[in-house]
Amino acid sequence: MTDTIHIAQAQAASPCTVVIFGASGDLAKRKLIPALYNLRACGQEVAPNEFAVLGFARRPMALEEFRETARVAAARFSRLELDQKCWREFAASLDYLSGLDDPDGFRHLKERLEQIEAARGLPPNRIYYLSIPPEAVPDCVERLDTAGLIAKPGAANFTRVVVEKPIGTDLDSALEIEGLLCRHFDESQIFRIDHYLGKETVQNLFVLRFANTIFERMWGARNVDHVQITVAESEGVGSRAMYYDPAGALRDMVQNHLMQLLALIAMEPPISLDSDAIRDAKLNVLRALRPLPQVGARDLVVRARYAAGVVDGEQVPGYAHEKGIPPTSHTETFVAFKAAIDNWRWAGVPFYLRTGKRMPARGSIIYIQFKDVPRILFNREKKVPPNALTIRIQPDEGLSFEVLAKQPGLDIAIRPVRMNLRYDSEFSGPSPEAYERLLLDVMSGDHTLFVSAQFVEKSWEFVQSILDLWRDDVTIPMHEYAAGSHGPAAADKLIQADGHEWLDP
Ligand code: BG6
Repeated sequence: MTDTIHIAQAQAASPCTVVIFGASGDLAKRKLIPALYNLRACGQEVAPNEFAVLGFARRPMALEEFRETARVAAARFSRLELDQKCWREFAASLDYLSGLDDPDGFRHLKERLEQIEAARGLPPNRIYYLSIPPEAVPDCVERLDTAGLIAKPGAANFTRVVVEKPIGTDLDSALEIEGLLCRHFDESQIFRIDHYLGKETVQNLFVLRFANTIFERMWGARNVDHVQITVAESEGVGSRAMYYDPAGALRDMVQNHLMQLLALIAMEPPISLDSDAIRDAKLNVLRALRPLPQVGARDLVVRARYAAGVVDGEQVPGYAHEKGIPPTSHTETFVAFKAAIDNWRWAGVPFYLRTGKRMPARGSIIYIQFKDVPRILFNREKKVPPNALTIRIQPDEGLSFEVLAKQPGLDIAIRPVRMNLRYDSEFSGPSPEAYERLLLDVMSGDHTLFVSAQFVEKSWEFVQSILDLWRDDVTIPMHEYAAGSHGPAAADKLIQADGHEWLDP
C-alpha cells in the first residue's frame, strides 16, 4: 500500500481581520465562530499566524457578553472540545461593534478596524463576511464603499467579501445583486459561499472521479443507466420560518447545493487544478442542462410540503402549523425533479434529484446505477440487479459499490454484494468542518471551492423556469407527505414512470 500522496499543500493564509456582519445571528453562532476557533485551535500550520475577528451587528452588546456568547456557541457547536488556553487566546482576538444600521456605523467600523490593526500589528487585510439577509446586502456594500473600506484589487493589502446564499430570491434579483457586487468589487475579491463545497465528501467527488481511471471510464451514457441525487433532512423548519417561508426548498436547496452536486458529478475533467478551469468545467454542466420543455414540464417536477407525522419517534407538527408560518403560506418543503444534460457524455441519461425537510433521517447520497448486463448469460428468465455505486455525502461518509457474486454452493445462484468504504474507519482523525476549509480559502485567496457569478446566474435560470411554471399554472398540485416519510407518492411515481425506484439514504 502506497503512502498518502500530497497533491497540494493547504495554502498559507495572510494575517487579516474577519468582520462578521450579522454577528449576533444564527450562522455566526453555529458555524462561523466555531470554525474560526477551530482554525486557531488546531491548525497552527495552516491558520494565519494572526487574525482578529470583529463582530458587527445592530444590537448594542458589551464585549464581554459577545465573548461569552461566542464561548457558549463554540462549546456547543465546535467539532473540537474547547481547550481553555486556546479559547483564551482566541477570545482575546474577538471584538464587537454595534451600529450596523446607524448612519455613522460604517465610519465607526473603519475607526475600529484601524484600532484593532494598530493594537495587534495586523496589516489592513480585511475580510467582510456578509451573514445578513439578501435584501440587506446592497445597502451594506454601498456603505462599505462610501466609508472607504474597499481597497482596490492589486493594492498592497486585500479586501475580500464573502457572500452567503441565497444570492437573490429569483433570477432578476440575483442579477441585480451580482451587478451591484461587480460595481464595488473586482471578481477576484468576491467569494460566493456554498458550504456544500467545503464538505470533505463533496471535495472527494472530484478525486474519486479524476484520480481513478476505472470510474472515469465508466462515467457516461455508455455505461450509466441513470443517476439519483437525494439530500434528505429530518429537521423541520425550526426557528427559521422568517427566512424559510418566502424561500422554500427550491430556492433554499436546489438553486445552490443540489446544482453543485449535479455539476460535480457530471462535469468533464478540467484541464488543470486551477480554480478557473474547475469552475468552467462545472459551469459547462449547467450550460448543457436541458431547459424545461414548453409542454409536459409539470410532469417533471414535484413539489410537496410535510404534514404532521413522527420523526425519530417524536410526533411533530405539519409545516402549516410550525411557529411563524403564515396561514396563507404556499411554500414547498420538498422538491423532486427529473433533469437531462444535453452533451455527448450524458445524452439519454436521466438525472433524478430530490430534497426535503422532515424526511425520516438526515442523509445525502448520490446513486449511480449502471446498465443491465446483456440478456445472454445471467439476465434471461430472471432479471439480475445492475451494478450500482452509492456515494454517501453525509452522514456515514463513504461509498459502496454493488456487484454480483456467486453464492457458495452446488447450485449456480448469484446475489448482489456490497463493497463498502467507510471514511471513518479508513481515515483516522476528524475532518475539518466545511466552514473551516472555506474560511481558510478566503484568507488565502483561493476561489476553487467558491461559486462563480456565471454559475449563480445559470442555476437561477433553471430554477426560475420552475418558479415560472408554478406561478403560471395554478393547477399544479402542492402534494403532502407525512413528516418522517420519504416524500409524497407523486415523487415515487416520477421515477417509477421510467421503471426505477428511489434509493433511500
Ligand atoms: C442550508 C439551508 O443552506 O443547508 C438549510 O439553508 C439546510 O435549510 C442546510 O438545513 C443543510 O446543510 P447540511 O450541511 O446540514 O446538510
